[in-house]
Amino acid sequence: MNQDLKKEKSAKEAFSFIEKDIKKDSVIGIGTGTTTNFFIEELNKARLHVKGVVCSSDASEKLIDSSYEVLSLNEVHSIDFYIDGADEYNDRKELIKGGGGALTREKILAYSSDIFVCIVDESKYTDLLGKFPLPIEVIEIARSAISRELMKMGGKPIFRNGFISDNGNQIIDIHNLPIDIPYDLEAKLNNIPGVVENGIFANRKADVIICSTDSSIEIIQ
Ligand code: A5P
Repeated sequence: MNQDLKKEKSAKEAFSFIEKDIKKDSVIGIGTGTTTNFFIEELNKARLHVKGVVCSSDASEKLIDSSYEVLSLNEVHSIDFYIDGADEYNDRKELIKGGGGALTREKILAYSSDIFVCIVDESKYTDLLGKFPLPIEVIEIARSAISRELMKMGGKPIFRNGFISDNGNQIIDIHNLPIDIPYDLEAKLNNIPGVVENGIFANRKADVIICSTDSSIEIIQ
């Protein structure tokens, strides 16, 4: 089975997983990326009666069917279900995200959600986070200073040339950074002045991982 079919399978399973608990005042949070796009397709087909959806990127927002009200996070009290993909996940349901550059808004929505359902295929599993280069969103004037700090920490920062986030900031991808204790490193990186957010999701990790393989689908709670 190719990877897209697996992503689609996870997205469909996530839709069934939340559908039974959806109410007319529910707010659904929508992540960003190719796996989430399959979830958006399911959502659009279903035309659910909900309060609305909150999106983590302009790209996702453009895909939402007009039958749904797109709300900003400031307009809602909380998000009932947040559905998003990941670049890596481990046994503790900690994640690396931000391959698509939407990590800051994704983290805000994940943090504001009651239930965070992460949809992946088996290729995203790792026992130790960090094989996927860790994205960091930075304020432009601090980019070089932050890169020097990251090198002191043992990483190899690569500037994502030409990319600007929906928040108007730049992204550095850190290669080869040892992420032994994700929770600690997440906080440490965010303590460097000029860092807007980093792609470690350990403080607010996933509640549920839905992972498809060639032959099965696993719901890890
Ligand atoms: C977007 O910024 C990312 O966090 C994505 O959620 C992550 O990169 C997974 O993307 P795919 O579903 O396209 O693999």
